[in-house]
Amino acid sequence: MRHVLSARQFDRSHLEDLFALAQDMEGLTKRRSLPDSTGPDGIVILFYQPSTRTRSSFRHAANCLRIPVWYETEDASVFSSAVKGESLEDTIRMFCNYPYVKAIVLRHPEDLSAQTAAGVADPFGIGIINGGNGTIEHPTQALLDLDTIRRNTTKELGQVQLVVANDIEFSRTIRSLLIMLSINYQPPEIGICAPEGINLPVDVQEELDGHGVGIRVFRDLAEAARWADFLYMTRPQIEYAARGIEDPEEKKAAIAARKELFRDFRLTQEILDSLDDDCSCKVMHPMPIDRRDFNEIAPEASHHPRCIYYSQAQNGLYIRMALLRKLFDN
Ligand code: NCD
Repeated sequence: MRHVLSARQFDRSHLEDLFALAQDMEGLTKRRSLPDSTGPDGIVILFYQPSTRTRSSFRHAANCLRIPVWYETEDASVFSSAVKGESLEDTIRMFCNYPYVKAIVLRHPEDLSAQTAAGVADPFGIGIINGGNGTIEHPTQALLDLDTIRRNTTKELGQVQLVVANDIEFSRTIRSLLIMLSINYQPPEIGICAPEGINLPVDVQEELDGHGVGIRVFRDLAEAARWADFLYMTRPQIEYAARGIEDPEEKKAAIAARKELFRDFRLTQEILDSLDDDCSCKVMHPMPIDRRDFNEIAPEASHHPRCIYYSQAQNGLYIRMALLRKLFDN
């Protein structure tokens, strides 16, 4: 596999290989042993949208494996020549001519960005790793999400009761997770918990249908949590709700309206405390949690034993180490 563009690319044996390798990678870091350098081939990290976890974990993973990171942007939409009007195609092509670039980890707000970049990089033999393309996909997040589920249950992945909650319409992490899960493990049902009128994108619904995965609808987080083995929370994806709006006042209003829509879909300490001891629900979140003025998970609930999103983020490091190891061993 040269490019990692979509959750659809991974089959079960692929996934199980990566999960096992991620566990080895964890062991490697726990032994505090860095492997020998495998030579000058390395990566470029090119992010046109904000990121904390995805970017830092790719960088950290590369450092742990002694794979050079030849270039990394703070935010390419602000600090690269994109500001001067350069196209993504030109930037990618330019990096493809630099020596020792084996893969480019890309995050970009446009839906078609990862495919476009792969089209440019492919003839050069250089891989594109999709770190998030608009509202479409975030395949490496799906890898770490599934690995986290696997690590936190005794059930087979196909038996796990997963509820995805809050912004199921625009969250690319939910899209990739549901695609990866349904293609490979075909759970009988997944749960969705969102306001009336907010639905999964049609193509994701079709994907679930095609794999015989039913949808159970919840309008109440407490009820969803009682059913779920894993409750996957997300924040309102305000950047997409306000996409294309130039006027600052209109933009502010669109963001406020999006948050208002999800007002009743915030997980409180009270909900968590109301769950019986025999309820298996663990709370996941790709993070960031919107702590500015929304708090889809109450701050005090973050210490609750059911909340596993800090270790979920940590698993992101190991799975990205595993992924880089595989790509660089090829
Ligand atoms: C997510 C993303 O960028 O889609 N963040 C992440 O990579 N962990 C989720 C989000 O921004 O809401």
